[in-house]
Amino acid sequence: MNHSQTPTDVRRPVLEVEDLSLRRVGSANPASLVQSVSFDVRHGECLALIGESGCGKTLTSMSVLGLLPSAISVAGGAVRLNGTDILGSSEAEYARIRGKSIGAIFQDPMSSLDPTMRIGDQIAESRRIHLGESRSDASRRAVELLDRVGITNAKSRLGSYPFELSGGMQQRVMIAAAIACEPDILIADEPTTALDVTVQAGVLDLLRTLQAELGLAVLLVTHDLGVVADFSDRLAVMYAGQIVERGATREVLDELPLHPYTKALSASVMQTARAHSILPTIPGRVPSADEMPLGCRFQKRCAFADPDRCSQPQEEVPVGHARTSRCVRVHEINNLEVLARA
Ligand SMILES: Nc1ncnc2c1ncn2[C@@H]1O[C@H](COP(=O)(O)OP(=O)(O)OP(=O)(O)O)[C@@H](O)[C@H]1O
Ligand SMILES: [Mg+2]
Repeated sequence: MNHSQTPTDVRRPVLEVEDLSLRRVGSANPASLVQSVSFDVRHGECLALIGESGCGKTLTSMSVLGLLPSAISVAGGAVRLNGTDILGSSEAEYARIRGKSIGAIFQDPMSSLDPTMRIGDQIAESRRIHLGESRSDASRRAVELLDRVGITNAKSRLGSYPFELSGGMQQRVMIAAAIACEPDILIADEPTTALDVTVQAGVLDLLRTLQAELGLAVLLVTHDLGVVADFSDRLAVMYAGQIVERGATREVLDELPLHPYTKALSASVMQTARAHSILPTIPGRVPSADEMPLGCRFQKRCAFADPDRCSQPQEEVPVGHARTSRCVRVHEINNLEVLARA
């Protein structure tokens, strides 16, 4: 959680995603895989994008990085980085943006580390290319960065290859590479999902400290509500390619989730914690690209569904301060006195 004095909503937006729609190439269904998704991430804050598997979180973050799979095309929208639209940039421009302005870390460190290159060279090269630093300065900085992310004997590790390191250490090296050129924003897609719980806690602590020290904007993509509660300032809940709820993390998770999907998600997490099982579950499944309904996308699994009103496309309904729920029944199904008092 960011404890800076400046309220989140008056800080400068670093990343703005506006009305982003993504479609599967050749799909006959007019409903998009990612539909009119809008959010911003401001200087020094962490926005979490959460939701079950297959909701479109990774596709959304990949479209920011210019790394969409070839089977997916952009159907509309804008992605602005410090005010400039970067969606549809050339591959060379994206390579520059990814190296310098946007850092990225993924679940699998080996998806971004080059297995054939020594870790020191990977970090130093990025500073030489993007910041024009000399070989010796870049190498010195690589030691500092490895030290900063908790690699012991950093200097002697410069010559190691990624495969010589444990999973947790690879994750730390990937973080060092991601922040090497002092990016404006870090995109972290399931950064700790593949790690043991104890290693996970250390990596999250590191991310939190770096975020505060560097004033980084962070877009955190995860299905783990525990990580979200711990780390993010605001959250956007995605379901089947749409944002169905947004608000301050504390309000949504601790006080009152508004959308039936968020309610089901938090209830299942509590149940999971009680049953000591591993994965929270909600009965039913996320609709696939070809069966995406035109009305409410959650209605088949929703305890509050009303066949007449939910078969229409749902708009985001503003509720209280900077909160929305994409549910036509939001006022009926929630005790909104709680929010009025907030
Ligand atoms: N290369 C692809 N070709 C076709 N469909 C794809 C492709 N990649 C993703 N999809 C589809 O897009 C939807 C969203 O996928 P995405 O990877 O963004 O989900 P996610 O929310 O990140 O899930 P997870 O939590 O499992 O990572 C899914 O229905 C998926 O099947
Ligand atoms: Mg994903």
